[in-house]
Amino acid sequence: MLRSAILATARSVRARSLIETLPVTRPVVRRFVAGAETADAVRVTRSLLADGRRVSLDHLGEDATDRARAEATVLAYQAVVAALADAGLSAGADLSVKLSAAGQNLPVDGEKIALDNARTICAAAAEAGATVTLDMEDHTTTDSTLGILRELRADFPWVGAVVQAYLRRTEQDCRDLSGEGSRVRLCKGAYAEPPSVAYQDKADVDRSYARCLGILMRGAGYPMVASHDPRMIDLAGRLATETGRGRTGFEYQMLYGVRPGEQRRIASDGDTVRVYVPYGEEWYGYFMRRLAERPANLTFFLRSLATRG
Ligand code: FDA
Repeated sequence: MLRSAILATARSVRARSLIETLPVTRPVVRRFVAGAETADAVRVTRSLLADGRRVSLDHLGEDATDRARAEATVLAYQAVVAALADAGLSAGADLSVKLSAAGQNLPVDGEKIALDNARTICAAAAEAGATVTLDMEDHTTTDSTLGILRELRADFPWVGAVVQAYLRRTEQDCRDLSGEGSRVRLCKGAYAEPPSVAYQDKADVDRSYARCLGILMRGAGYPMVASHDPRMIDLAGRLATETGRGRTGFEYQMLYGVRPGEQRRIASDGDTVRVYVPYGEEWYGYFMRRLAERPANLTFFLRSLATRG
């Protein structure tokens, strides 16, 4: 209930203008966001790699409202991958791309524009030895995103998909996406979705996550276990042993600023852990989803507002 209320508030123009302009939000936001600039993404990448973690960089922004903004997204990814390459940090890095930021929702030719833009980003990543994963947004975009994924994979077979366990359709999507070489990130899902398409009960979402994880781990692809939930982390480890995948046949993924101690523990145990690192000016939507996930984050945020003077 609280989660839906926060996600609904996040859509209000007044809430957005209030939260975005409060200077005090900055240090709070910085817990989850690397910084505003490409240089911040490079700095955080260097420090995460230094203690054995990998990265997936997300240039913040969603729902490009015109072609110029969609093109700016492409330029931002080209810039960050070039900066990583200059710093000798690009090999093995991943870029997380939201197709809505690449133009997917534009009223005329949105899907085609997003596909072309994503192709350009993939080409830049390929040149630098990096990969791309297409983030998954609300359920109205799922078919379109998976369609664009199929087109991209014809040229760049390593492009990763994201599936959301809260959607009722996801078990079938996992079956469809569990072929050889298919990189699939399994998350629980972060948007407010109606009961017609999504499980509403946390226990049902968790059960769906476990079933989807089983399908992916027993399949022929490369599962990316995106969760901070100790039970899911534990289950992934057990399934990796049971299926003979071992440590190199899958990876854990977590968000920047969430359970960093656990991220380090997993890396020091010899498993692969990749940290999703958002950076850029447009942190609002991402930040509100993180608040909605955890009441304790909301308390932390409200407390910092109260003490800003
Ligand atoms: P759950 O929410 O049940 O949390 C389990 C435990 O993790 C909590 O008890 C707490 O300890 C900790 N925790 C979780 N969230 C926290 C937070 N915000 N702050 C502090 N602690 C927290 N979603 C989506 O819809 N599309 C996408 O493309 C992606 N991409 C993505 C990439 C990666 C790498 C990750 C890790 C996550 C995503 N997500 C996403 C977000 C995902 O759907 C989900 O909302 C969050 O990961 C929280 O779910 P958990 O699986 O961590 O479990």
